[in-house]
Amino acid sequence: MKKILVTGGAGYIGSHTALALLKSDYEVVVVDNLFNSSQESLTRVEKLSGKSLTFYQSDIRDKAALINIFKKEKIDAVIHFAGLKAVGESVLKPLAYYQNNVEGTLTLVEVMKECGTNCLVFSSSATVYGEANQPPYVETQPLGNPSSPYGKTKAMVEQILMDVAVSDPEIKIANLRYFNPIGADASGQIGEDPNGIPNNLMPFVAQVAVGKRDKLAIFGDDYPTKDGTCLRDYIHVTDLAVGHIDALTWLLKQEQGCCEAFNLGTGEPLSVLDIVHGFENFTKQTISYEFSPRRSGDLPAFWANSSKAQEILAWQPTKSLQDMMEDTWRWQSNNPQGYQN
Ligand SMILES: NC(=O)c1ccc[n+]([C@@H]2O[C@H](COP(=O)([O-])OP(=O)(O)OC[C@H]3O[C@@H](n4cnc5c(N)ncnc54)[C@H](O)[C@@H]3O)[C@@H](O)[C@H]2O)c1
Repeated sequence: MKKILVTGGAGYIGSHTALALLKSDYEVVVVDNLFNSSQESLTRVEKLSGKSLTFYQSDIRDKAALINIFKKEKIDAVIHFAGLKAVGESVLKPLAYYQNNVEGTLTLVEVMKECGTNCLVFSSSATVYGEANQPPYVETQPLGNPSSPYGKTKAMVEQILMDVAVSDPEIKIANLRYFNPIGADASGQIGEDPNGIPNNLMPFVAQVAVGKRDKLAIFGDDYPTKDGTCLRDYIHVTDLAVGHIDALTWLLKQEQGCCEAFNLGTGEPLSVLDIVHGFENFTKQTISYEFSPRRSGDLPAFWANSSKAQEILAWQPTKSLQDMMEDTWRWQSNNPQGYQN
């Protein structure tokens, strides 16, 4: 049985992927400093899967601790989620973002090389395409110049990983460029529970619906889109988690080193108002909202062409918009205070 290290595995996407890994008969080791998460997510993953995982509360920048974990656990492959992810905050705290996201990845890859682990799935983002590329984004488009330090860290890490792959014929890397993950496991037991005010749309909508926040702020109503709000490609987090299993399975089968990027999105652009009204329709909850000025760094519209992941990884999103809304609501209404319940 292959043993997979999941960095940032207590977080939103990491916990759903840890669950998918356990269900697919991988052994799971999680390293997370719990900066933006709670260990309760992992307790629930164990309950849902009926299997146990190994957890280390540690920072991936702590090289000595990471080496000890690799030596003790004999890791076959790594799925690397650990990082900071708030676009707006990254503009205010660029050094924290470069340090955590870039330095953290450098330390991780150094330790992988020292310990002979050569298979890595990296959490990249659609933001790496930047402003100059036109949607639908396709992997043959060049890395762009992302508008925020957050996006720049993702583009930098992809560039670093490509260079590492050129220098090392053994290393196998998949850079997964996520679009906008939303939703929760269908059980309603795990979901997105960010610390503080949510930066992403869906947890904000869900927290307004449950009464935890008064009103949703929609940033910008004057974009050149059908209703003036931004268009994004929303993908169910469970489909995204399965994309990691498919990428990992593909990487483990490769006989030669490689570094490939894959878009993971549905290819369907939806506006912020589509999401708000969709949530209201499917959950029968009312969402109060108001328009605020545009947020710096937000692009009007982007969505994915995910043909490459479909053709090479045999990955296909299966969940509908209704699933995304209902699963978000099941999670939030079962857990109004998130994991603190
Ligand atoms: N959620 C999105 O919209 C989205 C979109 C594109 C890419 N991503 C990327 O996917 C990854 C996971 O995102 P998420 O939404 O699950 O975020 P999250 O904040 O829920 O999860 C990240 C986890 O990493 C941990 N962490 C952060 N820095 C760490 C460090 N130095 N050492 C150890 N643990 C650390 C946090 O405590 C958290 O549990 C991130 O790298 C993010 O940039 C997310």
